[in-house]
Amino acid sequence: MSDFVGAVDQGTTSTRFMIFDHEGTEIGKYQLEHRQILPRAGWVEHDPAELWAKTGAAIQTTLRLAGLTDRDLAALGLTNQRETTVVWNRRTGRPYYNAIVWQDTRTDRIAAALERDGRGEVIRRKTGLRPEAYFSGGKIQWILENVPGVREAAERGEAVFGNTDTWILWNLTGGADGGVHVTDVTNASRTMLMDLETLDWDDELLSFFGVPRPMLPRIRPSSDPAGYGATVADGPLGGEVPINGILGDQQAATVGQVCFAPGEAKNTYGTGNFMLLNTGTDLVRSGSGLLTTVAYRFGEQPPVFALEGSIAVTGSAVQWLRDQLHLISSAPQSEALARQVSDSGGVYFVPAFSGLFAPYWRGDARGAIVGLSRFHTDAHLARATLEAICYQSRDVVEAMQADSGVVLDELKVDGGVTANDLCMQLQADILGVPVSRPVVAETTALGAAYAAGLAVGFWRDVEELRAHWAEDRRWEPTWSEERREEGYAGWKKAVTRTFDWATT
Ligand code: G3P
Repeated sequence: MSDFVGAVDQGTTSTRFMIFDHEGTEIGKYQLEHRQILPRAGWVEHDPAELWAKTGAAIQTTLRLAGLTDRDLAALGLTNQRETTVVWNRRTGRPYYNAIVWQDTRTDRIAAALERDGRGEVIRRKTGLRPEAYFSGGKIQWILENVPGVREAAERGEAVFGNTDTWILWNLTGGADGGVHVTDVTNASRTMLMDLETLDWDDELLSFFGVPRPMLPRIRPSSDPAGYGATVADGPLGGEVPINGILGDQQAATVGQVCFAPGEAKNTYGTGNFMLLNTGTDLVRSGSGLLTTVAYRFGEQPPVFALEGSIAVTGSAVQWLRDQLHLISSAPQSEALARQVSDSGGVYFVPAFSGLFAPYWRGDARGAIVGLSRFHTDAHLARATLEAICYQSRDVVEAMQADSGVVLDELKVDGGVTANDLCMQLQADILGVPVSRPVVAETTALGAAYAAGLAVGFWRDVEELRAHWAEDRRWEPTWSEERREEGYAGWKKAVTRTFDWATT
């Protein structure tokens, strides 16, 4: 068997390709950013053709830099930004519209209407989600209603839907010349169209959004010995590599962080933050604003579920300081700027750019900076931005503890923002528990590689994967209990100031 496993990670801001060896060590990596298309306030799009082109380029560059070829790869895993919606023509391969990104709020009204007439309750019960603009169902409906000709083509089975896992898989396996139209159960669990108990598309849910069944991909396990298909020889791999793992990126990070036992949790710091707590094969319903979702399903084993706290804006608030306010010229600079002051001077920044997700779910919220006086500087705002990342995570931890009774005694973290030492120290201070980061910080790609490698016997079982996990860095809390609770009380007050700004 070949010595390595590859993983495509098609994320919100960039796409990377990574190669891992038997020990789960990173052997090669290359990543490319893509354009964020922002046509109006609240709208966020990606160009699907660009996502595919960047995927191909990332694969080819990684292989070239590592001096490897398709023959060195035993299998391929795919992971992706979840919920982001692509609709394309399966005959021509052309998308009908840009990908509507998970952060996009244009379907607020669709979501609010569901809530008003009782359909919201059905969605909660069947999908574990809430009727929110965040998920794919309303985004598909929007394309069907607003792009001429799509509905008819969808009814004929010619216009097809996929999240970006499905779009990339279809292209890798041949595109218009026989590409495979499949997704995995974790991605399907984010559409509002799949019933968590049957793990199949549900006709009642499809009717809520007017989605014709023929446009939907087949739902398969996240790790599949039968495989979803193989890459084509004239594609970016240059040969046939079996594809055996697909997971939404947050579920992939849960696998990469080896959270295989009930009660184990991870928090990923990317564009947004996503905390997932493994609840085992039990479906745990949240009473505190969390989502119930599929964590993974390996082959024909029963699915494993998770409670999820999704936060829309964390790392992207730092990008906003960089790209829109021009306070810093790179994301890492936020740390140096924030270190110029010893606290935020009572300033709170609530980056409710897409409304507020968990645990508040306020589509009507918009961002606010409160507590300003003439004394404050850009350094206070930078520090308040890092604190906002951590306070939002504390909100989610509180909700998780309330729902599950599991009291976290440490927090496992990963993702780009964990390179920010000050932010991780603030996280330990604001939570009052240690924060621990593993050696392989790219747990998302690693998780997709694990899913693929388990399927083909490259790795034996999850115990073997557990043995790969090693701590790289740990942050211990330093704040007094009084400072912690005072700071958090200020945050809760600031959050209420963001409500009722946008009407849906
Ligand atoms: O639900 C959205 C999430 O999957 C996006 O993750 O890392 O691409 O920001 P990321």
